[in-house]
Amino acid sequence: MNDIALGLDLGTSGVRVVAVDLWGKVIAQATHSYPLLSPHPGWTEQDPAAWVAASLNALRDVAQQIEADRMIGLGLSGQMHGMVALDAEGRVIRPAILWNDQRTGEAVAHIESIVPRSTLIQRTGNPAVTGFQLPKIIWLRSEEPEAFARTQQVLLPKDHLGFVLTGDRFTEPSDASGTGCLHLQTRQWDGEILEALNLSVSLLPPVIGSTAIGGRLKPELAEKTGLPAGLPVIAGGGDNAAAAIGLGISSDHLQRGSISLGTSGVIFAPLHQPTPDPEGRIHLFCHADGGYHLLGVTLAAAGSLRWYRDTFAPQADYAELMTLAASSPAGARGVLFIPHLAGERSPYLDPGARGAWINLALAHGQPDLIRALLEGVALSLKAVQQVMAPLASIETLVATGGGTQSELWLQILANALQTKLVIPAAEEGAAYGAALLAIVGAGAVSLEDVLRQVKGNETAVEPDAEFAYEKQFQQFQALYELLKTVR
Ligand code: XUL
Repeated sequence: MNDIALGLDLGTSGVRVVAVDLWGKVIAQATHSYPLLSPHPGWTEQDPAAWVAASLNALRDVAQQIEADRMIGLGLSGQMHGMVALDAEGRVIRPAILWNDQRTGEAVAHIESIVPRSTLIQRTGNPAVTGFQLPKIIWLRSEEPEAFARTQQVLLPKDHLGFVLTGDRFTEPSDASGTGCLHLQTRQWDGEILEALNLSVSLLPPVIGSTAIGGRLKPELAEKTGLPAGLPVIAGGGDNAAAAIGLGISSDHLQRGSISLGTSGVIFAPLHQPTPDPEGRIHLFCHADGGYHLLGVTLAAAGSLRWYRDTFAPQADYAELMTLAASSPAGARGVLFIPHLAGERSPYLDPGARGAWINLALAHGQPDLIRALLEGVALSLKAVQQVMAPLASIETLVATGGGTQSELWLQILANALQTKLVIPAAEEGAAYGAALLAIVGAGAVSLEDVLRQVKGNETAVEPDAEFAYEKQFQQFQALYELLKTVR
């Protein structure tokens, strides 16, 4: 029986593979990790060979749990924006530069000095952004010219893995739109932008559909992993788009988006048409279902709480911190927290932004500080929501990530956003979405049906109109401006 697809998510800390049946049930899974390298402050790199080794191990672990003749395809997803440079023989030239790398400040300025910011936003959905792939290519050309001279092909992380698995080079629009040089209307590389920057379009792989078959598993890797030789490898999606597919979020149903409270906080809003924020304050990318989506990122969400715990209460577990926070009333008795501990991405695109507690008095204690922190993260996501609101039509947000285990934080979030949140019965992440894209790509079920069957069994958190944090939000925005004067 041909009834199982695999999905793989090439993350920043490790790779996860899941096997999913045609009804959306997870049958088997495996994870393997690899190190994050930081050869200089602000630089983040990984060895693509470590990705490949971990991926083959995870695929083998999953293959051992199911019969090979049941498998219909493997879908790919992974961390977005990274750069793998290959020579004419397809060999990796230098370590991959990752999405959270900060080295490309000058390259970003160079791109915007040649292609006006407004043109970039209009055509690619975004201004030049430090973490995106295009500035990394420009950086390679100016800082490592010998390596650049040998570079024949540049791939995104999951597409590099696709190339190793199949021998074919391909990408798809959801990840390609995170490079900074995909034309959003045509969903193909923007030749004019590349030409203006004196880059050849041949550096980049062909763009195929997210559910299209990019290639087939090489026999020698089939033998190594126990997967069937010739297994179709489906192009898949960037991790955010794939995770959204796994939550049933599609551009056919614009009222449903997602919010995640992980280390960073992310709001994902589907769109029919590629309508950017004119100031480029939030990202606009292609969705893996043929539509588009907005993406806003607050960098230190649950990361702020982890920092608090590690710094001030290393013995406490998160449940204890939440109990303390619950003993402070809404508004934290006047204390405000700005969560810009790692700079900020959306809506400020400001790596120099910094965090703060404001309004402290002797009467305040830990409960107020923690409550203010939870509220500050929610207000930071509200700043993202405000920029999205005129462009998107969200009524419900599917909430995921470690922070959503706290009922208190969920209620604060629903109140601050004045939006209904729903908690999925199970949270399987990007690997799951990649498996669903593979089910569609292998022709087993239509995308519509796949999206329909992943919804259901959700618990709702309704916003309370009495606690909308409006005054606090105005203060939050004013404080961002004010805090610039003390950097
Ligand atoms: C999205 C982004 C991250 C990466 C890391 O813009 O930078 O979500 O995809 O996984």
